[in-house]
Amino acid sequence: MNLTLKIWRQSGPQDKGRMVDYNVTDISEHMSFLEMMDVLNESLVEKNEEPIAFDHDCREGICGTCSLHINGEPHGPDRGVTTCQLHMRMFNDGDTIFIEPFRAKAFPVIKDLVVDRSAFERIQQAGAYISVNTSGNTQDANSIPIPKPDADLSMDAAACIGCGACVASCKNSSAMLFVGAKVSQYALLPQGRIEAKERVLNMVKQMDEEGFGNCTNTGACEVECPKGISLENIARMNREFLKASL
Ligand code: SF4
Ligand code: FES
Repeated sequence: MNLTLKIWRQSGPQDKGRMVDYNVTDISEHMSFLEMMDVLNESLVEKNEEPIAFDHDCREGICGTCSLHINGEPHGPDRGVTTCQLHMRMFNDGDTIFIEPFRAKAFPVIKDLVVDRSAFERIQQAGAYISVNTSGNTQDANSIPIPKPDADLSMDAAACIGCGACVASCKNSSAMLFVGAKVSQYALLPQGRIEAKERVLNMVKQMDEEGFGNCTNTGACEVECPKGISLENIARMNREFLKASL
């Protein structure tokens, strides 16, 4: 495939940024989107031009690092995949593809397509953990009975990889799907109930302080989430928040 790419270039946080046109040729439909970006960057390096900065790590849908906004959608046109899992067969020869960073006030651009998502880390630090007695008398987790439906729902919530696509897809830049998943993953298990009250209050407080917007039940986050995190997690977080606030 031969493609025209319109890519956001921004030299640093203070730079205004602009869209720049590039052409790539002989792209295989079997390549991943990031491999196609590698081909472009290699050609830029050969021409002594600055390669395009973009985030990636595992390249297998696990780490949540890759983060491109492709043709107006976080992680591109496919469903249930991250950008590193997106294949070029989703595009056609001759296509023009728009590639931008995730856009949100709480995710400032560092360079080109790389945004600072440390706000998510600070929300996690505010409560996404359990305190465990490590004195030697710790109860084996497998000896605590947990109903199968709760274990399954908790596991589903724990599938969130913190990629930020939910924020990027939301007109309010809300992080409630992410925070809802993190709150739910613990709230559904007995080990997480001990600190449940402080957890939800602290995580929601941090979420607000980071500048994320509120949820207005549009549901774009659920559609774009590569891990299929359900809106039910937002409802569960709201219930947890209400109970903790009373
Ligand atoms: S809820 Fe989905 S879209 Fe949001 S951070 Fe988690 S995995 Fe990414
Ligand atoms: S690079 Fe790890 S999820 Fe895409």
